[in-house]
Amino acid sequence: MKEIIQKDFELFLGNEVLEKLAEILINKEYSKVFVLMDTNTQRHCWPILSPYLVNYEPIVIPAGEANKTLKYAEKIWSKFQEHFADRRAVLLNLGGGVISDLGGFCAATYKRGIDFINIPTTLLSMVDASIGGKLGVDFESYKNVIGVFQHPKYIFINPQFLNTLQEEEKRNGLAEVCKHALIEDKSLFEKLAAIENHDWENAGALIFQSLKIKVSIVKKDPLEKDIRKALNFGHTIGHAIETHSLISDAVPLKHGEAIAIGIICEAYISKAIQGLSGSELEKITDFFKSRFPKYKGKLHAPSLIDIMKNDKKNRQGLINFTLLKKIGKAKIDINCHDDLIAKSIEYYRNLTP
Ligand SMILES: NC(=O)c1ccc[n+]([C@@H]2O[C@H](COP(=O)([O-])OP(=O)(O)OC[C@H]3O[C@@H](n4cnc5c(N)ncnc54)[C@H](O)[C@@H]3O)[C@@H](O)[C@H]2O)c1
Repeated sequence: MKEIIQKDFELFLGNEVLEKLAEILINKEYSKVFVLMDTNTQRHCWPILSPYLVNYEPIVIPAGEANKTLKYAEKIWSKFQEHFADRRAVLLNLGGGVISDLGGFCAATYKRGIDFINIPTTLLSMVDASIGGKLGVDFESYKNVIGVFQHPKYIFINPQFLNTLQEEEKRNGLAEVCKHALIEDKSLFEKLAAIENHDWENAGALIFQSLKIKVSIVKKDPLEKDIRKALNFGHTIGHAIETHSLISDAVPLKHGEAIAIGIICEAYISKAIQGLSGSELEKITDFFKSRFPKYKGKLHAPSLIDIMKNDKKNRQGLINFTLLKKIGKAKIDINCHDDLIAKSIEYYRNLTP
């Protein structure tokens, strides 16, 4: 079992982590154990977790981003009240990023904060969403606008949960795994590039190498004032494309698919103004091109640039980028001309499928 012990939280990864969880729950003598899950994790993951728990209260919500809302937060708080949860209660979040964002938010705000524990079950939540303490819900069709920062007490990662995850959800997580490699760790990028079909259930070592990057960045800058912005590589253009697709497509792009396009475009900009070499741009482009389907929708640069200018991360009409100097080395807080952003989108558009 691999572990990371920090002041704010402890993380364990391996096939035996649920035994460790059971041990901790007994030692901590929580007054009540609640388990939040969605309909998919109830079906696929709850049968694996439940044998390790004794007294618990399950809370099940429908699966999907559409339910990361105050409406479901209220339902969770009501469940806490109904079962007389006091400040010694604990919430286990069994699921992907929707469950850890929503459940963490409910726990961090109930009676000014009860403990919560993340048991991530998607690749994206194992390497990203379950770590870092950003919690919250979507509001009036804007993502993550209501929320707080609070770390989980523990994170237990069992890669075997990935056995039942759909291929497109694995791909969704791959974009973030690779982003971590691109900003911090060339050796991880090379390992990822060398594998054709990722067998994530047996890839605990790769998951650990990737999540360690997020842990170390968050430790240096928990409130995203400085270096944590490195994690936004690919996300400035990626988020704009995600928003555009949500508005215009019958089947919108998944987050990871939009970020993959964002990474290609921002790698192009990195070559233009940060000295990323042509061969590294090619490697990054090939990596994402061969693993993600080409976006078939329209990409209209001026509209995407307008969306970027309205993003909460940007100020006074200036668009903030994290770019690459080379694979494994990022630079934060860079602005660039709209023309270059438009050219980067054209670069993506002109790629052969
Ligand atoms: N807090 C953060 O730092 C942070 C970082 C990145 C993303 N996020 C948030 O995370 C969310 C996306 O996370 P996600 O991609 O994990 O989405 P998700 O939680 O919606 O999970 C994706 C789908 O997979 C299903 N699923 C989960 N585990 C499964 C399993 N083991 N087997 C079968 N099906 C399973 C879910 O029911 C869901 O349908 C977004 O809301 C995003 O804003 C938060």
